[in-house]
This record gives sequence, structure tokens and C-alpha cells, in this order.
Amino acid sequence: MIQIFDTHAHYDDESFDDDRERLLAGFPAQGVHAVTNIGTNIRASEETVRMTEKYENLYGVVGIFPSEVAELENPDNVKRLKELAKHDKIVAIGEIGLDYHYEETDKALQHKWFAGQMDIARELKLPIAIHSRDAAQDTIQIMRASHAEEIGGVIHCYSYSKEMAQEYIKMGFYIGVGGVVTFKNAKKLKEVVENIPLTSIVLETDCPYMAPEPNRGKRNNSAYIRYVAEKIAELKGITYEEVVEQTEKNARDMYRL
Ligand code: NI
Repeated sequence: MIQIFDTHAHYDDESFDDDRERLLAGFPAQGVHAVTNIGTNIRASEETVRMTEKYENLYGVVGIFPSEVAELENPDNVKRLKELAKHDKIVAIGEIGLDYHYEETDKALQHKWFAGQMDIARELKLPIAIHSRDAAQDTIQIMRASHAEEIGGVIHCYSYSKEMAQEYIKMGFYIGVGGVVTFKNAKKLKEVVENIPLTSIVLETDCPYMAPEPNRGKRNNSAYIRYVAEKIAELKGITYEEVVEQTEKNARDMYRL
């Protein structure tokens, strides 16, 4: 049977220091055959490259998270990011985007490097993994200005409306769905999943964060992603196997594997 592709995880996180190796080795036996580790700054991106060299079933995405983009004001770090992105198993630039959740954030700097990292992705012919929180309008505006439809990728941990989801899909983007869809109060995301085609959905954990029910609040890991696939199957009235098979294909198409 075809196994799940976890398109977004953070195994460089220190919460995995004691069992990272054992966890990653065990996933194929638990129905997860591939995982993508996502960078959030230069250090995590370097660690991501190292991990892809060490673990066979691990791919990597390198990039600078919205709240950490000050790193890119140093040209050496821009150069370093491009070098890291050229490694064999690096499949996208991310997670990049906008996060307005915290008030003290420098929006102008976030805009500059969201667009700047899209330019890097275009130059290296890689898709992008987008993080967008409390910034729906600015995200799509900057994507349009940067012609993101020529780049492609995923809106990870999707949290906006079903109408906005259609806009991203029209631009050729996938919608990343994770543990939130299993939460009782996640009415909006459930509506999104019911309304968009399965061909536009990729599965993700965002672990160690966002653990699905019945493990909500615990440390997340890729073995729990089956609860996300089960919930999508239930919402769409299809089988678990259909969800796994189509989203796995979507993940490989997105990361061009
Ligand atoms: Ni993430």
C-alpha cells in the first residue's frame, strides 16, 4: 500500500534530541515513507541539509522564517542559503512568508525578504513553502507582485477562508493540512477541506507542533499524521487509502520528486 508523505516537519527541534534517530527509522513501519524537514533560519537550514545526508527517507527545505529574516540583511547569509539550497535532497525554499501575529514585528523587512526569497527560489528553480499567519491580503499581494504562479509550492498550515484557498489554488499552489483539521473548533479549515479538490491537498505534521486529536497538546511526530488523513477521508466521504494515495502523489509533484 502507498504510504503517507509528511511534507512539513521540524526534526532539528531539540525536543527530538533523545529519540530522533529511532523515530525516523520507525516511520515506514507506521505508514509514513517520506518526511520533509523545514528550515526556519540559517542554523536550522544547515542542520536540515546534514539530516538529509544522514536519513534516507528525509528530504529538506531551506529558508528563513518571517520573524528571522533579519539574518538575510547579512549578504554572507544570502550566499550561504543559496549554497544550502543546491544540495541534492533540498526540494524547496521555506518556510518563507509573513507572520503578523506578534505586534513588534518589522513588516517592511518581512515583505522585502518574502519577495527576496521567492526570487532565490525562482533563480534556483525550486518551489516554495509559505508560512502565512494573520496576513492573508499582504501574502497574496506580494505573491502576485512576485509572479508566484511561476514558482509554485504550498501554503503550509493553511488557516484562511475557502475563498482565499481557491485563489492560491488558481496560482498553482497546494494547501497544507495538518493536525488543526482534527480539532473540534476548526470549523473554517474543515470547510476548506470539504470545498477544495483532493488534488490540491498535501499532508503535514509541522511537528513537534500541532499534534492532532487524540494527541492534541503533546509533542507531535509523523506517526500521528494518520489522524489527519482519517479526518480528511471522513470530511470528503472517501476512503483513507484514497486520501493517502492522492496526497502522496501531490507531495511528489509539488517537490518534483
Ligand atoms: Ni513549520
